[in-house]
Amino acid sequence: MMMKPASLSSLTSFAPQAPETHAIVGLWGISLVIFAAIFAVVVGIIFYSLMRFRWREGEPDPDQIAGNRTVEIVWTAIPLLIVIVLFVLTARTMSFSDPAPAPAPDLIVTGHQWWWEARYPKSGVVTANEIHIPVGQGMSVRLDAADVLHEFWVAELARKMTTVPGHPNHIWIEADKPGTYLGVCSEFCGTEHAWMRFLVIAEEPEKFAAWQEAQLAPAAQPSGEGAKGLALFQQMTCVNCHAINGTIGSARIAPDLTHFATRRELGGGVAENTPENLRRWLQDPQHVKPGVLMPNFKFTDEQIAELVAYFETLK
Ligand code: CUA
Repeated sequence: MMMKPASLSSLTSFAPQAPETHAIVGLWGISLVIFAAIFAVVVGIIFYSLMRFRWREGEPDPDQIAGNRTVEIVWTAIPLLIVIVLFVLTARTMSFSDPAPAPAPDLIVTGHQWWWEARYPKSGVVTANEIHIPVGQGMSVRLDAADVLHEFWVAELARKMTTVPGHPNHIWIEADKPGTYLGVCSEFCGTEHAWMRFLVIAEEPEKFAAWQEAQLAPAAQPSGEGAKGLALFQQMTCVNCHAINGTIGSARIAPDLTHFATRRELGGGVAENTPENLRRWLQDPQHVKPGVLMPNFKFTDEQIAELVAYFETLK
């Protein structure tokens, strides 16, 4: 079938690709070593005691002792020390992985049922489900939600953070090296929670700047079949929800489509962005992504061909 979900391979917290996630995994590793050592000591003492003091025919009970001051001090001091060490390490990691937000965010991400809007307030770029960032530069992200609680999670690049309607949250996101990183919604938010994925594309600063410039350009002016598609887009109710920069469409209910053809996936990751998948999507979005808020418009095959021709021009 058409579905080609984004690979799950990169959705792991154990392959950090940013300073903050490195710090978090480092804390996890140190804690694991400390806990393993405690476990070994406790289990070791239990086994030693079981063997050494087990009941034997004819042997008297061992000496009964109570209130040994040295023992009491030792087994209070050692755990206290361990807790203090863990506290200091955790506090350090927390302050490192969750710095104060920048005075003005570099990126505003809004969770919608079931897609993500990304807005770059400094340049004016608006896009959906595909977030570009410059490599090696921390981006201060403000997280909003349009409807219900969602959770923004790019396992390799940042800690996860809930998006709450009317209550902005903040995180930093950064990538050590260029790459495409999988992001997901990690808080159940309704039928299509599972297909609320996105891609974070980290690229060299010059490439990122070029991407922003290209995104800012108004939509291409199509000709032929594409022009018919544009006319349809404006006549049908598409414009009630979707914006395409340079047309009458400016609504913000659904993903901005100005440079739709540059994105790799559609429907929050449910399918690869190919003309064939787009055709199936327009034929019946509910079939591709059951529950999606886009209704079935019952387009004719001819209308779908025109719309696809138009959307493919939106580079
Ligand atoms: Cu949005 Cu789960």
